[in-house]
Formats: sequence, C-alpha cells, structure tokens
Amino acid sequence: MSFECDVITLFPEMFDAITQYGITGKANRNRIFNLNTWNPRNFANDHYRTVDDNSYGGGPGMVMMAQPLDDAINQARARQTGAGINKPTVVYLTPQGNRLDHEIATQLSKLPGLILLCGRYEGIDERLINRQVDVEISIGDYVVSGGELAAMVLIDCIVRQIPGALGDPESANQDSFVDGLLDYPHYTRPEIYKDSHVPEILMSGNHAHIRRWRLQQALGRTWLKRPDLFNLKFAHGMTLEEEKL
Ligand code: ADE
Repeated sequence: MSFECDVITLFPEMFDAITQYGITGKANRNRIFNLNTWNPRNFANDHYRTVDDNSYGGGPGMVMMAQPLDDAINQARARQTGAGINKPTVVYLTPQGNRLDHEIATQLSKLPGLILLCGRYEGIDERLINRQVDVEISIGDYVVSGGELAAMVLIDCIVRQIPGALGDPESANQDSFVDGLLDYPHYTRPEIYKDSHVPEILMSGNHAHIRRWRLQQALGRTWLKRPDLFNLKFAHGMTLEEEKL
C-alpha cells in the first residue's frame, strides 16, 4: 500500500517539485507514495474566495481563516478514510513545532499517511489548529515564507525511508544520521583530480579495512563538525554542550 499524502496549500503547483523530479518523483510514479492537494481557496464561501483576514488585536500581516482550512482538511480526511486509513494524522508545518530530525521522520514514515497543513501570511487562526492538528513540526529555527517548502522537506525525508523508494535498498541505511553520525567522504573517477588523489585505502579492495576507515572518517567529522551529536557526559556529569556554556 502506498504512503498517502494530502496537502492543504494555497500553492498546489509547488508540489510538482517532489512529484515530478528525482527520487520522490520516481517513488510517486511507482506508487510508493501518493500525493493529493487541496486548495483552501476552493472552500472559501464568498465571491472573492477569501482565505485570510486582519488579525484581531491588530498588528501587521494577515491570518488564514479557520473555515476554508477546516473544510479542506475534512475533505482530505474523507479521502484518506475512503483509502482505508483509519485516523489520518494532521501535521501543521510551523516554526513553533517540534524540530524535525531523522527519528521523527522515521516515526512518521511508519504511518499509513499524513495530512499536511501549509500556512502562509502571519499564521493560521488558533482555533483551527486546536480543532484539527495532531502534530506541529518545524524544519529548523528560521522562518521560510510558507509551509510548502517545509512540507516538501518532510515528505522527501519520509519517502526516502519507505522500503523500495531508493534504487539500492542499502542506500537509506547509509544516510547521515541513521547511525547518529555524519556521512564519510565519497570519491569517484578520476583517480587523480588536479593533483589530488583518492585515498589509497579505497583502491585496496579490502572491504573490512574500507569499512573501518569510513567509520573513522564519520566519527572524526562528527566530532569536529557536530560534537553535540555525541551527547557525551563527562566525569563531572555535564554534556559537551553544557561544558561550553
Ligand atoms: N513555516 C515557516 N517557517 C517554517 C519552519 N521553519 N518550519 C516549518 N514551517 C515553517
């Protein structure tokens, strides 16, 4: 059964980027995941198809109204229920959410499907979030101009974890973060590029040595670039991060 994605968005065409290109495009064509979009503008109930309004209490920017989103989500729920998904999970992409990491993506990839809610403008009426949203997810501590890019990041990193999405079934297991470490360096032809040689061990054919070298590289890189990933506790009980403070 394919992973069923329903996205609530004012800009459905943006999602061509993942349904038509690269690994996610191929997974989509192979029915490993299925994506439907729902434009809240089609659920607006006035002549101008209004989906946003001023913020109560004042302040800059517009807020997305609850009703068009509510109706769009209910249609998406009905579609997923019709596709045999019992209680679809609704995810709202927002900088206020839980920070996305490999573990969260793995958990979400085990669900039969998701409804992803993409905000624009200053945000969404809080009452809609309280009524409909199960999980809030952020792709990092910065703000992008809408939830669409965040939803695509989330879908891409979920889809590549679904068995069969990657050509080589081992590839997903070799990704950075799967073992909690950064990736080791990669090389391809030519053997010498502008005076720089491929490390000799990779030409040795000794796979045990190559595995060990790659692990050393991954450990070294993680230690230098992202020591926080080790989450080490020292004798006095502090982590490296706390030590730095
Ligand atoms: N929308 C705007 N910025 C975002 C972020 N960092 N994560 C998720 N959704 C967002």
